[in-house]
Amino acid sequence: MATILIIDDEESIRFSLKGILEDEGHEVMEAETGEDGLEALKSRVPQLLFLDIWLPGLDGLEVLERTRQSHPDLPVVMISGHGNIETAVTALKAGAFDFIEKPLSLEKVITSTRNALEMTRLAEENRVLKSRIMSTHPFQLTGESEPVIALREAIRQVAPTDAWVLITGENGTGKEIVARSLHLESRRADKPLVAVNCAAIPEELIEAELFGHEKGAFTGAETSKIGKFELAHMGTLLLDEIADMSLKTQAKILRILQEQRFEHVGGSKTIQVDVRVIAATNKDLLKEIEAGNFREDLYYRLKVFPLEVPPLRERTGDLALLIEDFVGLLCREHGFKPLTFSPDALAALACYPWPGNVRELKNFVERMQILFSGKTVYASQLPREFRGSVPIQPQSESRPCPENHQPCPAIPDGPIELKQARAEFETRFLVTKLKEFDNNVSQLAKAVGLERSSLYRKLKLYGIQTD
Ligand SMILES: Nc1ncnc2c1ncn2[C@@H]1O[C@H](COP(=O)(O)OP(=O)(O)OP(=O)(O)O)[C@@H](O)[C@H]1O
Ligand SMILES: [Mg+2]
Repeated sequence: MATILIIDDEESIRFSLKGILEDEGHEVMEAETGEDGLEALKSRVPQLLFLDIWLPGLDGLEVLERTRQSHPDLPVVMISGHGNIETAVTALKAGAFDFIEKPLSLEKVITSTRNALEMTRLAEENRVLKSRIMSTHPFQLTGESEPVIALREAIRQVAPTDAWVLITGENGTGKEIVARSLHLESRRADKPLVAVNCAAIPEELIEAELFGHEKGAFTGAETSKIGKFELAHMGTLLLDEIADMSLKTQAKILRILQEQRFEHVGGSKTIQVDVRVIAATNKDLLKEIEAGNFREDLYYRLKVFPLEVPPLRERTGDLALLIEDFVGLLCREHGFKPLTFSPDALAALACYPWPGNVRELKNFVERMQILFSGKTVYASQLPREFRGSVPIQPQSESRPCPENHQPCPAIPDGPIELKQARAEFETRFLVTKLKEFDNNVSQLAKAVGLERSSLYRKLKLYGIQTD
């Protein structure tokens, strides 16, 4: 079933067209003039428009042109009287989907309606498929560590409901990916996900951005514009960086979010929407409330279902998978040869605290991929800040693991191959013992029961320096 708008000044035409369309199961809106029709489009967007060519006031071609500008995806079927065929052809050239002639033929109306709706459905499906491709890669939530599995499970449970979700987590942890997953796994997936970055919009423009505005509503408003709220109708609205919204705007949106009703800035018509709200922030909202920067009532309204995205340092077991993903992506996009990290390099990366989280890791992998395309990177080749916590060069560069993250050596919490685990252990073991034996490889070889040459090979393999 679709919603269809008919703009025709002849009541008998509206009546018979409405009858045919309602028999087909559609809901019909009517307007007598072009002006009324354009007004109706502002409060509700149909899936199809039947538009008379000859109308008093604004004529059909003008209405078509304005509709193409404001609603480029809305198919328009022109209704032409005898002798209007040439104009109908002009309309087709101007972007109309089809035309039907008066007197109306039942068969032609039904075929044209079905074709137009099918075209819209295919275009929509195409958009959804594209956004799904975009969302499975590179927007997927990679990771097999416990916190990521728990997060994915929570997303799976809450996504199909209409509950509001508050996503918190440090910078770069993947809050936006979580929001996209929530949308794509919801029944709203084929409708838009509209994101508003509250930190990026100047205070004086945020209302117009969210709720839209009428022409002339304020200086610079040369045309009317639909707001993000309306664009998200039937879909999801992501209020990103919500803590950066001013108290004044917070007060205003709280009422609107609850009632889902609002007016354009400078307008008087009330618009009703059906929008699911997701908010995200990297700030501690309870602290913001204490400091008087965030409204408590808004906090509790948003926090129906809280989701916390863990920092990367708490899920270092995912490092190898994330790196593999990013390397794959870079190689596909830029034709690099994949790099690999040796076990000792991975061990060093696991001890780094990743203050910029997954975003920092992604940028780091890109930098290393440029430098080491097709090669293996050993710990000693890592940039200095990443070598700090594994004492690869004990004399000069050792730095203890930060106290607030898991101790090194740590047992990775994701799946790991025994071979890799052994290599990581051997690396740490040899680094420590080498230091105890004052870098004397012969003595260490004897102590650990290896041929000197075998020990040398191992040290070289793991990138452990002996001098
Ligand atoms: N689990 C993940 N799997 C794959 N890529 C991820 C993951 N988490 C984050 N990323 C990538 O890291 C980058 C940052 O993610 P995102 O923008 O979602 O973080 P954020 O938490 O919203 O950051 P900010 O607080 O700065 O807004 C993106 O490029 C994203 O693709
Ligand atoms: Mg973000």
